[in-house]
Amino acid sequence: MQQLNRRSWLRGFATLGAGTLVVSPTEILKALPSESQHLAFEGEVRLSSNENPYSPSAKMQEAINKIGPELCRYPNRHFATLEKMIAEREGVDAENVVVTSGSREGLNVTGLLYGMNGGEILTCMPTYKALLTYAERFGAYINIAPLDADLGMDLDALDRRIHSNTRLVFVCNPNNPTGTLLDRDRLKTFCRQASKRTMVFVDEAYFDYIDEENYPSMSSLVKEGHNIIVSRTFSKVYGLAGVRVGFLIARSDIATRLRQRLMSGTNIMGVRLAIAGMEDQEFYRFCLQKNREAREIIYAAIDEVNLPYKRSHTNFVFFHTGRDIRGVIGEFREKGVLVGRPFPPFSDWCRISTGKIEEVQTFASALKQVFT
Ligand SMILES: Cc1ncc(COP(=O)(O)O)c(C=O)c1O
Repeated sequence: MQQLNRRSWLRGFATLGAGTLVVSPTEILKALPSESQHLAFEGEVRLSSNENPYSPSAKMQEAINKIGPELCRYPNRHFATLEKMIAEREGVDAENVVVTSGSREGLNVTGLLYGMNGGEILTCMPTYKALLTYAERFGAYINIAPLDADLGMDLDALDRRIHSNTRLVFVCNPNNPTGTLLDRDRLKTFCRQASKRTMVFVDEAYFDYIDEENYPSMSSLVKEGHNIIVSRTFSKVYGLAGVRVGFLIARSDIATRLRQRLMSGTNIMGVRLAIAGMEDQEFYRFCLQKNREAREIIYAAIDEVNLPYKRSHTNFVFFHTGRDIRGVIGEFREKGVLVGRPFPPFSDWCRISTGKIEEVQTFASALKQVFT
């Protein structure tokens, strides 16, 4: 495993800070570790990557214990079981479901398919960038509108910007990093109308955490035959970020095109654990409850230091520190807490993920020290 020395990391970070600015902001952002590169040192709490620390559940552990003899087998025959379970839950057919290696693979393959050779992809920023950055590597042009005043995706602005070369509109709902949720009717109307002119991609990685009752997945529009692709993941409430399972839902002709372009798909451990996760409703409810508790602790802590924040429909909270986030990251790290990376242009906001209750309590006391 890569050995990191905490002091030298902090020193390196400080030389990139605003006080000794000898490189451009873009270079600083490039130099910052991405979410996946954040390594927690012993004793640090990792609240930087929107993970669920409660897994594996007892049922997942049971599946892990049994999997040994199957590790030498290809996973294909288990795909059908998982696809069928997902299809039944979403009310679509199995042919509409594409199982991927984390939803990231689904985002990448969609970005590649629609963005290559100058295809234009439209979105609001800041949002989860994986599809966009991957597509850009294959020649896509990314057309960016700002978020609306409420830090949500600005559907009116997206609607106005669609034109003949727009190949895809990327909507993240709830949005990462702001945690905001779109009005359900407005989103449905947008998806129905925009998908007549271009492909609409809705990233629903945080769908399970939505607090509004009966909030619809846009997979309901796939059934109606629209040009919509929905992505979901087992990395969040199911706590399976490490084994890489996600899926896309799309009309069967679109699903086939996406499936044909996958590069890895998931593995036997991923499929078996996703199945075990879907069968374990008790664990699912437990994780949602713990997430709500952790979020309340975070809200109370931020209230105590009088900073503004967005109420969140996810497993993280976005709050306004009013200070350059690069310095704030370093200050929290000094107190043993890893918080989210910078999300320009919101460079004085901080994203904190929910973790175990004791971990968010550690964050709460660090917050008090950093901001009072
Ligand atoms: C909005 C969003 N979509 C997709 C992903 C990718 O998740 P995964 O590849 O683990 O499914 C993330 C990860 O944090 C995310 O925040």
